[in-house]
Amino acid sequence: MSKKILILAGDGVGPEITQEAHKLLDALSAAGDLACEIETSAFGGAAIDQEGVPLPDASLALAREADAVLLGAVGGPKWEAIERARRPERGLLALRADLGAFANLRPAVLYPGLEAASTLRPEVVQGLDIMIVRELTGGIYFGEPRGIAENSEGQREGRNTLVYSEDEIERICRVAFEIAGKRQGRVCSVDKANVLEATELWRTVATEVAADYPHSTLSHMYVDNAAMQLAREPRQFDVMVTSNLFGDILSDLAAMLTGSIGMLPSASLDVNSKGVYEAIHGSAPDIAGRGIANPLATLLSVAMMLRYSLDTSELAERVEAAVSTVLKQGLRTADIMSSGCREVGTAEMGDAVIAAL
Ligand code: IPM
Ligand code: MG
Repeated sequence: MSKKILILAGDGVGPEITQEAHKLLDALSAAGDLACEIETSAFGGAAIDQEGVPLPDASLALAREADAVLLGAVGGPKWEAIERARRPERGLLALRADLGAFANLRPAVLYPGLEAASTLRPEVVQGLDIMIVRELTGGIYFGEPRGIAENSEGQREGRNTLVYSEDEIERICRVAFEIAGKRQGRVCSVDKANVLEATELWRTVATEVAADYPHSTLSHMYVDNAAMQLAREPRQFDVMVTSNLFGDILSDLAAMLTGSIGMLPSASLDVNSKGVYEAIHGSAPDIAGRGIANPLATLLSVAMMLRYSLDTSELAERVEAAVSTVLKQGLRTADIMSSGCREVGTAEMGDAVIAAL
């Protein structure tokens, strides 16, 4: 049966990188490997310009109908002055929440050949393969009350609320253990249980869930230590499971270990494995429109889409292998460039991956 894929290109480098993903999906369809219908729609700042809102009803309706959604990136200086409720980022959060995409998988993998692109020493990052499982539809990103208001002393006061119910913690921990079962079976739950009650509950529930997975092990780590350990000895981790905000921060850190934030894909899954797929990097307005952005995180996000939402693991592996091949061939976008390699632009990198399939 033909699968429906929605591409929301968004802002900054979003259109350039999703163009390469579109080409890749077209190539897989043309070869008869994948039956899919691709639609595109407005999102983010681009949608604000056209329709006044970051997530227009038509885009949301298409996203609800689709089997999988591929996102480019959202945001940029042009929309930073808009009232918060209508900013591009709110469209992204609304989409994740509406689709119930609570399980955010962010694999930090160091591809052979990119050791030199990492700012850490090669012997520290070689063979790195961590899966960060980030809770995506709860926590301080969504908790109420929130806002900026005047307090009784006439001062402006900013407020956000960190709240997690036990079922929210339980379901994300189960996702982490299911994934760990197919890897090394080691889950590290990251919290700040020494200070924050919400994450004290997180630790308790994670421990309860672990009892159902006797073949895996659970360890706990405070988030400050986890940040340090990621920079010190990242290969100690197999699967990390954590809250929305901590996962946001730690995944950027993990991305840099792999050489460039331009390498990290992500999948955000609902309870039925329908997913939103996106590179974890942002819209990079400084390089937008120049054809130099690294499309690999987005192409690897397509691989995750093939694996988790389209039930075609074999194609996912082919895409990942093609990415390895082009890197072995020495092709590099500017962000991962090192001596002895050939620098290519966004489109040439995309073409090379398709050729290597
Ligand atoms: C990410 C991004 C988003 C987030 C922003 C753009 C809202 O940083 O996907 O990591 O904080 O979740
Ligand atoms: Mg982020």
